[in-house]
Formats: sequence, structure tokens, C-alpha cells
Amino acid sequence: MQSALMSNYGSPELEFERGQGSYLYTPQGERYLDFTMGIAVNCLGHCHPHLVAALQEQSTKIWHSSNLFRIPQTEKLAQRLVDLTFADRVFFSNSGTEAVEAGFKVMRRYHYSRGNKDRVRIIALSQSFHGRTLAPIAASANPLHTEGFLTGDPGFDQVPFGDIHALRAAITDKTAGIILEPIQGEGGIRLTPFDYLLQVRELCDELGILLMFDEVQSGVGRSGFLYAYQASGIAPDLLASAKGLGGGFPIGAVLASERVSAPMVAGTHGSTFGGNPLATAVGNAVLDILTAPGFLRTAMESAAYLRAGIAKLIVAYPKVLEEQTGMGYMIGLRCACSNADLLNALKDRHLLAVKAGNNSIRFLPALNISRNEIDEALNALKEACEALSVTA
Ligand SMILES: Cc1ncc(COP(=O)(O)O)c(C=O)c1O
Repeated sequence: MQSALMSNYGSPELEFERGQGSYLYTPQGERYLDFTMGIAVNCLGHCHPHLVAALQEQSTKIWHSSNLFRIPQTEKLAQRLVDLTFADRVFFSNSGTEAVEAGFKVMRRYHYSRGNKDRVRIIALSQSFHGRTLAPIAASANPLHTEGFLTGDPGFDQVPFGDIHALRAAITDKTAGIILEPIQGEGGIRLTPFDYLLQVRELCDELGILLMFDEVQSGVGRSGFLYAYQASGIAPDLLASAKGLGGGFPIGAVLASERVSAPMVAGTHGSTFGGNPLATAVGNAVLDILTAPGFLRTAMESAAYLRAGIAKLIVAYPKVLEEQTGMGYMIGLRCACSNADLLNALKDRHLLAVKAGNNSIRFLPALNISRNEIDEALNALKEACEALSVTA
């Protein structure tokens, strides 16, 4: 039967009724190992008991009151994010794209408040992805996402990934800031080199423009750090977070330094649902676990185990796998065959992964996945490689 949904997601066949830990179950009871985790959202797997308890408890107290009133758990989550990062202030949204949008507004407002009304342009990198609302699609300028949607000049410029000279050349007296992903996600799991991050930071400081990191996908533990920028020691002025922050409940946030966020006075921005008590109750529960002593260290030991297993398969099956990219549990597999073929072969073996740019697939497992589940995934990958090597 045809669905009444718009066709923008194509027509997926699989349907899941239930999720538990690293597994998803169809209505017929078939089990799939989930290495999509809602595209890097369910960072603690499906229905983690601590998150379920937080949501259930909150749901009997208050669901929504709006930002007309104080929301204690929202203030608590903001304070925790401030304590754990470079930031001094937080604005909560409901999704990644809204967090990015809010960051763009903060950038422009910062310059406006200093009398630089023309400093509105924002520079993004090639193969970036920052979301699907109008400003983020204009930033990434991927024709697949922009065609038929933009009018006029929305105020964004693009430069080649990792090329500091091109970036310097693109900056004008109208540039407000730069946005980049410390680890590109949709573009194909690509680490932004630390020395480039440092050069960008220095350039921003030299020219008085702002640096925003988009950690919607790389954030919340996936890199082994709460935010991937912390591996480099190079802090931004703004950071967009979402996905894993709610462990499966919709939430987004833009984090900012005091200096940058100061012009965002009452009335300059808002969201009816942003900072909703249900979302921030779950967000706090996510941080309880992620910040527990040893949690991320243990997760990264298991990630290293998974990566070592994948590395062996790359050597064994060069017709299928070309390269492993990324960091921690943000894993990219660049394919020597078609990435769609590998995804299908994995799905046939009940391992679910996500497509990415650069003929890659992504493995985005739960951060608390067990070694047995990793072995199961490696086995499925080996079998898929075996089958595809024969047909290649
Ligand atoms: C780096 C990055 N930024 C922004 C977004 C947009 O987030 P959302 O889909 O929650 O709007 C995504 C989503 O995949 C992303 O990976």
C-alpha cells in the first residue's frame, strides 16, 4: 500500500517494532544488529534503562511549559555542557539544523552589535553537511540539496576542504565566520586535520571572525571525547550539537562563549519546543552515563577492537574494502565496490549501516556495544566481503 508520506525519503522496506540495546526487531521478530543507531543518535543503544527511567519519570511531572518559565533540568543540562566544554552559554533547539541556524544568527548578530552590519557572510567547506533548512543547505551548497530551493544570494561561500590558502583568499571584510565539521559525516567520515584546525583558529583570531564547529554528528562521545574538537585542543567560538545529545529524543543545542553570545538579548531568538523538559531530562540522563568514570575509555577500547578487525578485512578483501576512516565509533569504510552493494550485502546478513559520500558506508554503533556484538558485526562484514569478492 502506498504511504501518505512525502516521497523525500524514498520508500524504505524495513520496519522495526522494537529496539533493545544494539538490536532492532521487525514485527515478525527478525533481529538486526544496528550500526546506524538512528544515524548517530541512539548513542547508548535502544531503550537504555537509565534513559527510559528519566523519560518515564519526567512524563508524569510536566511535558511542556515553554520558555516563558524556568525549566530546572534545562538549566542543569546547559550548566553541565558549559562545565564540560569551552562554552559559557547554551541555546537549545530541537534538531541539528536548527542548532546550526541558531549559530549562524549568533555569528551575524555578534558583528551587527559591534557596528559591522555588513559582516554577514559565512564560509563552509566542500563536502560539508550542516542540515536541511535553508541556511544550512546554502552553506554546504550541495546541488542535490539546494536545487529549486534557494533565491538570491543567501550569504554563504564555499572553499575546498583542508586548503588554508583558499580559505584565506575567500575571506573578505564581509565575512562573519567559518563553519566546519571536525569530522565530516555525510561527506564520507573525514577527519579535519588538526594542523588545519589550528590554522583556521589563528586566521579567525587574526581577522576578528568567528569559528563554529558543527558537531551534530561527531559530538557526544562518538569520537572518544565528549566533542571531537577536544581531541585537537582547538576550541571554537560556537558549537552545534544534536543527535546523540538526546540519545533518541529530539534535541539540539548551540554552545557559545560569553563574548559571542552576549548580543543574543531577550527577543533575538527563540523556539517553542527548544529546551523542552522531556528532551533535557533525557539529555541529562545521557550525560550521566557518558561522563561516568571510565565509560568513554572502555568504549574506545572496544572501538579499537572493532577497527583492528576491520583493518584485517581491508587487507583480506581489497576488491570490496579500500580504506577505513574516522575516529572512535565514527567509522567510515571507503568501498572498492559500490557502497550500495556493500550496504545491501550487510543488510542481507542482518547488519544495518548507513551510506555516506565518497563511495563510503558508515558504522555508527552504540557506544556501549559489547565485544560479542562487535564479533557478530565483523563476521557479517567478512561474509559480505566474501560474497562480493566473488562477484567483483
Ligand atoms: C554535521 C551535521 N550537521 C547538521 C545535521 C542536521 O541535523 P538534523 O538532521 O538533526 O537537523 C546533520 C545531520 O545529519 C549533521 O550530520
